[in-house]
Formats: sequence, C-alpha cells, structure tokens
Amino acid sequence: MDRFVIAIDGPSGTGKSTVAKHLARQLRAGYLDTGAMYRIVTLAILRAGVDPADEAAVADHLPLVQFHSPTDPDRQQHDLDGDDVTAQIRGGDVTLAVTPVSANPAVREWLMERQQQLAHTGRMVVEGRDIGTVIAPDATLKVYLTADESERARRRHRQNGAVNVPAAPNDLDAVRADLNRRDTVDSGRATAPLRAADDAIHLDSSDLTADQVVEQILAFAAERGIN
Ligand code: DC
Repeated sequence: MDRFVIAIDGPSGTGKSTVAKHLARQLRAGYLDTGAMYRIVTLAILRAGVDPADEAAVADHLPLVQFHSPTDPDRQQHDLDGDDVTAQIRGGDVTLAVTPVSANPAVREWLMERQQQLAHTGRMVVEGRDIGTVIAPDATLKVYLTADESERARRRHRQNGAVNVPAAPNDLDAVRADLNRRDTVDSGRATAPLRAADDAIHLDSSDLTADQVVEQILAFAAERGIN
C-alpha cells in the first residue's frame, strides 16, 4: 500500500514517540510528531513575550510563527525561525505553557490544516492526541496507547534524563504530577480533547517493551494490507 495513515494517540508517557518512530522505520514511512508542533508554537509565543493564556493575543501572533516540521523518523530536528530548538521544546517552560496554547481553538485550527496536509502525503505514522478523531478520521489504522500511571512517570523521567532536557522536572513525583496535570486538562478541554476514536485499537503498553508494542501494531497493520 503506498498511501496510508497510522494514527497513534494516547496520554503522555505511554511510549507513543518511541513506538511511532520505530514503526515508521520498519514500514519505511514518514513520521509526524504533532505534539512537537504545539511545543514549537508555544516556544514562539514565549519568545515573543505573549501570555500563553491570553487566547486572543496568542491567535494574533500565529501568522508570525515560522517553523519547519520534519517527517523523517531518523532526522527529527525542529527549527523555529532558523534556530534548532529540538531540545528547548522539551524544556520545563514549554511543557508548562503548551497546555493553554494547545487548548486554544485558534491554535488548533491553524495547526490542523498543516497536520492534515502532512499526514496525507503518502505512507505516514502520525502521533498525537486527536489524530484518529480530528486530523485523520479516515486513518487506515488507529491505535490508542495507554500505560498505568507509575510506568508512564518512570518512562518520562528516564526520557528527560536521556536527552538532558533543560529545566525539566527531575524527580519522579514532579514528573508524575506534571503528566497528571497535562492529561487532566488535555482530556477536559472543549476543542479536540484527548479521546480514543470509536474504531481505535486500545493497547496497554505497561508490561510490554517498545519492540513488543511495535510488533503488535505491525500485525494489525498487516491485517489492513500495510506492510
Ligand atoms: O506529545 P507531547 O507531550 O509532546 O505534546 C505536547 C502537548 O501538546 C500535550 O500536553 C498535549 C498537546 N497535544 C495536543 O493537544 N494535540 C496533539 N495532537 C498533540 C499534542
């Protein structure tokens, strides 16, 4: 199949990024990290000195935001105004401010067009919160990834240490509190809340390695003619 979308949705820390990237490599497909797009817009808002909670001011600033989103799973460099901000978008300031920015309907609408266009460029694995419900309701395969809370906190804690994220919460309890804060707001927001699509396959990754999750998804994909 030369055109497909595999949607990988779910809360923070379930291993979505690792799994989606592996999957894209195995299938020689592109990979789109929509969370990174919300993070880049958030960084642009912070750099401009705009209050992330001021919906109208954030909306007014959007036309000035210039960024590039990579789709190669092996070259995930994120640029904002020509600067490499790959590490900075994972930092504590952005992680805090991305919640109001991603709940802003103007931001979601602005990014939606770009995400829909990139998602439909061929063989694509797309990761986020609303891919199966809003960005690609026509996706060939939809996976909703979950994991129990302490496992999610452990994984994100490890990930923060591995990439040496500046100003990220660095004790396990702070990481857990931050995941809970984001998921509660993401699930409760009015526009495109975190929710599984009715036709999504639910996969609990708590007791599985990333490779095992990828294997299971590859099997579901093969059933749909994707290989
Ligand atoms: O996946 P992530 O943690 O990098 O995402 C950052 C934030 O962006 C997250 O708190 C929720 C939001 N997000 C969203 O609202 N919709 C998406 N499709 C992807 C991310």
